[in-house]
Amino acid sequence: MSIRNLIYGEGNLPESVREKARTHMPIVECPEKVKEGESVRVRIRIEGHPSKPDHYISCIDIYFSEDDRPFNPIKLAHVELYPELTDTSIEISIRPRRSGTLHVVAYCTSHGLWETTRRIVVEK
Ligand SMILES: [Fe+2]
Repeated sequence: MSIRNLIYGEGNLPESVREKARTHMPIVECPEKVKEGESVRVRIRIEGHPSKPDHYISCIDIYFSEDDRPFNPIKLAHVELYPELTDTSIEISIRPRRSGTLHVVAYCTSHGLWETTRRIVVEK
C-alpha cells in the first residue's frame, strides 16, 4: 500500500476516521491570489487537539506543487512541535513563483497524517 492512501484529507476520509477530521486537519489561511514576486503569509493551526506527551501533533510539513513543473512537490518548511507548552499554530511567509497547490501535512502521534490543500494563483 502506498503512503498516499495513509494521508487523510480531502478525497481520503474513510468513515472510520471521519470523526477525527475536525481536530486533525490543518486549518490553513492564505490568499487565493498573489502578485508575482509578492510575499504572502500562511497561517496554519489545528484546533481542539490534545498537546500531551502521549498524544500531540509532532510536526507540520508544508509543500508546494507548481503547475506544469515536471517533478513536485517543493518542500517549503518542516516544523517540529513538542507537547504541553506549544499551541499547534504556526505562520510562515512564502513567495510562490507560479500558480499551484499548497499542501500542509500534520502528523499526530496517535492518529497519523492529515493534509489540507489550498490553491494559490500567481497573477503576472
Ligand atoms: Fe490525534
